[in-house]
Amino acid sequence: MKHELHAVEWTGSALLLIDQTALPQAFERLEIRDVDALVDAIARLAVRGAPAIGAAGAYGVAIALLQSGREGWTGDELAAAVARIRAARPTAINLAVCVDRVAPLIGQGLDAVLNEAHAVVREDLEANYVMARAGADWLLKRVAADRPLRVLTHCNTGALATAGWGTALGVVRELHRRGLLEMVYVDETRPLLQGARLTAWELAHEGIPHRVQVDGAAASVIVSGSVDAAVVGADRITMNGDTANKIGTLGIALACDYADIPFMVAAPTTTLDVAAVTGESIHIEMRDEAEVLGYGGLRSVGQGTRGHNPAFDVTPGRLVSALVSERGVLEVASGELPGERWQ
Ligand code: MRU
Repeated sequence: MKHELHAVEWTGSALLLIDQTALPQAFERLEIRDVDALVDAIARLAVRGAPAIGAAGAYGVAIALLQSGREGWTGDELAAAVARIRAARPTAINLAVCVDRVAPLIGQGLDAVLNEAHAVVREDLEANYVMARAGADWLLKRVAADRPLRVLTHCNTGALATAGWGTALGVVRELHRRGLLEMVYVDETRPLLQGARLTAWELAHEGIPHRVQVDGAAASVIVSGSVDAAVVGADRITMNGDTANKIGTLGIALACDYADIPFMVAAPTTTLDVAAVTGESIHIEMRDEAEVLGYGGLRSVGQGTRGHNPAFDVTPGRLVSALVSERGVLEVASGELPGERWQ
């Protein structure tokens, strides 16, 4: 399997990001050479998706080291810059995990930092391929239909959100590769439309049958029997399997539970928060209310109304039928806990 879309790439002297805010209208790259530009790109979702921002954070340490050399920073200034990258978004733990993995190598120089960042990317890609196969195997066995599957997905978990290929979308791709995928229902994913703008773009490029639907359609599509399973990604998973993911995921999990169909979460073990026992402690990113009050610079809500914009929600582990990582599949709803099996 090979996939050539790289959301995060090192050029030799700079970080090249696909500007995901411009898609699907334009395919543009951002060349990142300083910490301010990287923090800005992460915060406004030019690079997004938990594993992709982890990779960007890993290379961000190299960016900070290079800038420090150019501008003659003190050790404290360099440490503060790395801390700013680490905190650019709070919910996806991959960002902090990857920065913390690479930053201790600063003392060994740029090559050591870059080698570790390359390893982060390589391992994420490998994990995606393993998860895709394991997730597809599990779904086919559990659904046990004698026809191709119909699945629902939320947000974007594809090549754009990872080192390449994808987590939940990797499972979808694998089903399609096997000729066992009938249709993907793609939630548009308000307010920033990662499903409509990014997932649909990835699927269209590969000729994978899909339809975009409004987020509000998900529950009835699930309960009416139009899909066989929902497959989503994760930004942070706690020891008991509680899963933070894009806002709207919890409603999908509840509908799947009601309809008695599988709700699958696909995420590499780098998404596990070993310090968190349950999802109650997860910091949910609150974003600018302007994202909810309009789109593309046009305000759709009248003056005098405020917006409420939590970017993620937490699905209790007991609603997660299958948690797929590069280490295989855990049936969390049946009592298998990542805290016991993933560490
Ligand atoms: O705000 P975003 O677009 O970064 O949110 C992304 C998600 O919620 C994804 O589902 C998650 O990061 C997994 S990506 C493989």
